[in-house]
Amino acid sequence: NKVTIVGVPMDLGADRRGVDMGPSAIRYASVKEKLTQLGYEVSDQGNLSVPTPESYDVGEKQLKYLREITLVSDELMRTVDAVKQEGRFPLILGGDHSIAIGTIAGAAKHHQRMGVIWFDAHGDLNTGETSPSGNIHGMPLAVSLGLGHPDLVDLGGFAPKVHPENVVIIGARQLDEGERVLIRERGIKVYTMHDIDRMGMATVMNEALEIVSNGTDGVHLSLDLDGLDPHDAPGVGTPVSGGVTYRESHLAMEILAEADILTSAEFVEVNPILDQSNRTAKVAVALIGSVFGEKVL
Ligand code: ARG
Ligand code: MN
Ligand code: MN
Ligand code: MN
Repeated sequence: NKVTIVGVPMDLGADRRGVDMGPSAIRYASVKEKLTQLGYEVSDQGNLSVPTPESYDVGEKQLKYLREITLVSDELMRTVDAVKQEGRFPLILGGDHSIAIGTIAGAAKHHQRMGVIWFDAHGDLNTGETSPSGNIHGMPLAVSLGLGHPDLVDLGGFAPKVHPENVVIIGARQLDEGERVLIRERGIKVYTMHDIDRMGMATVMNEALEIVSNGTDGVHLSLDLDGLDPHDAPGVGTPVSGGVTYRESHLAMEILAEADILTSAEFVEVNPILDQSNRTAKVAVALIGSVFGEKVL
């Protein structure tokens, strides 16, 4: 019942500036107030410090800002580790999705085996070799599975952080060729938009819960706001049409809340610069409410 909020104003993993303002946008949408209303004891640790891209060389073009992202990931890993050490629930606010590398590394230290729910339009399963962009926010799930640059993969001195049999991707509708190959090879369960349309979100979530909790002692939720349809969440850097609706995403969070299995969570890719009246951050806070147990009645 104790939550610690940590902001990570990271934009080095994405092409577009603005996602570094995600944590402020989510705070402005009253995330702390929401959780307090729900009865949690909330502490906001503020933001980690993240270097600004203008002051650094982009480095290798297939792994842009690798050095800086590695340093921030290490710091985030230590922070999440410390929060969990205190028996508190880490709620991490992004920032681009590269932050999942550090969040998952820190959380995984506390579990024998951890499941991951990756809610996203994308797979984020690229490596330096397969990435079409060189942007590290397209790589964090691969890194957590032990694939990619060793500086990222070996963070914390152990790898992999998670096993493919305990990972589910929900909402996928844009995958690169290398990601498709990896999904097939590793047998990662992906619920595409097609699957969500056919099965309905409730069935998808019930199956997903089975996968992430089977043999695990912890579950991390990594929610990229671009998993939602851009009509509902327009403030993201890499929007893809045909996404999860506002209502479906709430249902997913409500089912997660009922299952009561989450041990950490992050909400990423909110970009208020590309938004309309902070709508996307407001959606993030509404989803946070649902996943932390908010109910109408
Ligand atoms: N697959 C594309 C890439 O590797 C887009 C990744 C988008 N990722 C995200 N976290 N929004 O560049
Ligand atoms: Mn995405
Ligand atoms: Mn395994
Ligand atoms: Mn993502």
